[in-house]
Amino acid sequence: MNSASEAGMTAAADWWATGISDIAPGSIRFHGYAIEELIGAVTFPQMIWLMVRGDLPSPGQARLLEQTLVAAVDHGPQAPSIAAARMAVSCGLPLNNAIATGVNLLGDVHGGAGQQCLELLYDLVATEQDPQALVADYKARKAYVPGFGHRFHPRDPRRDPLITAAQQAVADGTISGTYLKSSLALESALAPIPMNVDGATATIYAELGFAPPLARGLFVLSRSVGLLAHAHEQSQDPTRIKGPLPKSILPTYTGPRPRPLPSS
Ligand SMILES: CC(C)(COP(=O)(O)OP(=O)(O)OC[C@H]1O[C@@H](n2cnc3c(N)ncnc32)[C@H](O)[C@@H]1OP(=O)(O)O)[C@@H](O)C(=O)NCCC(=O)NCCS
Repeated sequence: MNSASEAGMTAAADWWATGISDIAPGSIRFHGYAIEELIGAVTFPQMIWLMVRGDLPSPGQARLLEQTLVAAVDHGPQAPSIAAARMAVSCGLPLNNAIATGVNLLGDVHGGAGQQCLELLYDLVATEQDPQALVADYKARKAYVPGFGHRFHPRDPRRDPLITAAQQAVADGTISGTYLKSSLALESALAPIPMNVDGATATIYAELGFAPPLARGLFVLSRSVGLLAHAHEQSQDPTRIKGPLPKSILPTYTGPRPRPLPSS
């Protein structure tokens, strides 16, 4: 092979260079670990951590991650993401499209606020800003502090077990508690608006050192389980095109009264 074609081969091999997966005929390794050793030795949360962080977590870290993943799995058809996935199935789409439809509804306001909350917590600690001052600034701008409040629950039932788990993890030395202290200070400053699931999971992700976009990514992984379950259940229902409202209820019309077309 001449040097030009060697360079071409190297360029082709480097095109999708990855530090994650090392695949060859008969061999599958992730970050150096062989799949045949991982199967049976690690839990799914440990596997997720290995894939996105590059190494295996301690048992305490894996347990905390697992609790956040369990917490966000589903919120019933009241959750826009779940309702949209079910609607997609009723329109004849298969499970993969239904899950993608639900995932595409997760953003800054619904399901994705963990990313913004994580950014906020990292910033709050890095700049040593006073949580009271931060909340006052948000209130003055009539802005919503990400990770707090819930349109449905007066107090999100996922908040307490996650925060208790974080407190226990501080006690056993798994995490430092720095970000937990900040998010609890934010919550006190916002009272009576409590932390929601995104705020509680972001607190744990900050303690575990996850990059902010991964907070949203982990929520997507968790919620995909609920999306799959609901999409599958809907697929057993023969109703075709199940719209956002029962047929007997019409959306309120707020436009002009019926009127004739103007004559030309
Ligand atoms: C989730 C959310 C949309 C719920 O909103 P809602 O139930 O419609 O709450 P309202 O807009 O009626 O708010 C009620 C009051 O609490 C305040 N409030 C609610 N959540 C707040 C927040 N996160 N930060 C600051 N103030 C908040 C509102 O400003 C409002 O105050 P006012 O009565 O003085 O006007 C809202 O809390 C929010 O956007 N939170 C941040 C995004 C987030 O964490 N999303 C994930 C939800 S699981």
